Amino acid sequence: MVITIDGPAGAGKSTAARRLAGAMGVSFLDTGATYRAVTLRALKAGDDLSNSDRLVEHIRAMDLKLTPQPNGLHVLLDGRDVTEDIRTEEVSQNARFAAGAPPVREELVNLQRRIGTELGDFVTEGRDQGTVVFPDADVKFYLDADPNERARRRREELAQRGEQADIETILQAILARDESDAGRSVGPLRVPDGAIRVDTTGYSIEETVEQLLRQVRERTGWEGA
Ligand code: DC
Repeated sequence: MVITIDGPAGAGKSTAARRLAGAMGVSFLDTGATYRAVTLRALKAGDDLSNSDRLVEHIRAMDLKLTPQPNGLHVLLDGRDVTEDIRTEEVSQNARFAAGAPPVREELVNLQRRIGTELGDFVTEGRDQGTVVFPDADVKFYLDADPNERARRRREELAQRGEQADIETILQAILARDESDAGRSVGPLRVPDGAIRVDTTGYSIEETVEQLLRQVRERTGWEGA
């Protein structure tokens, strides 16, 4: 069983995907973490992020392990715990270089498919999972939310990590990421064919996951949880 969840930053994809996978007893793949890991590795090396050949070399050289934990995803890069380091605003802002470079996307798409093959049954989330990476998925979702609500969620997420940022700055960053996610020539953010659209504005994460589970049951006849 393969379930894809795509959508813009802050729509609640990561949490929803992790919880849906947990409820179904299947694995969870956070593909944003692969873009973040290569970005962090290149930043640490002091490399020019617009050099896509260099980013591809980083992907080929890096040892990345993504392990879902009850409270989130545990990320090991070259044997070091970078769970927190890949979520900083610096990495969020700079991930657009990796996301916008065709050879980098190609390499990461291959990596994501390899991880998927190893996982078997899984829920995956990102921007291009239902359109490009796993177009034959059993169920495809497209999660969205009002930009102001996405900015509020992002502020809370940052505050929980002790980072302060003002709402207007966050909103502008989110709108800029929406534009670069939707506007790039490869793997742009699109609603996949056959995807179920879910607007999470005003809904708690529990309500969202319940809705996703209901759809999975209806579409696939799956009867667990
Ligand atoms: O979902 P996220 O914020 O962790 O994603 C980090 C970056 O990677 C963001 O710039 C979008 C990009 N991304 C992508 O282009 N394709 C994916 N499948 C996942 C993430």
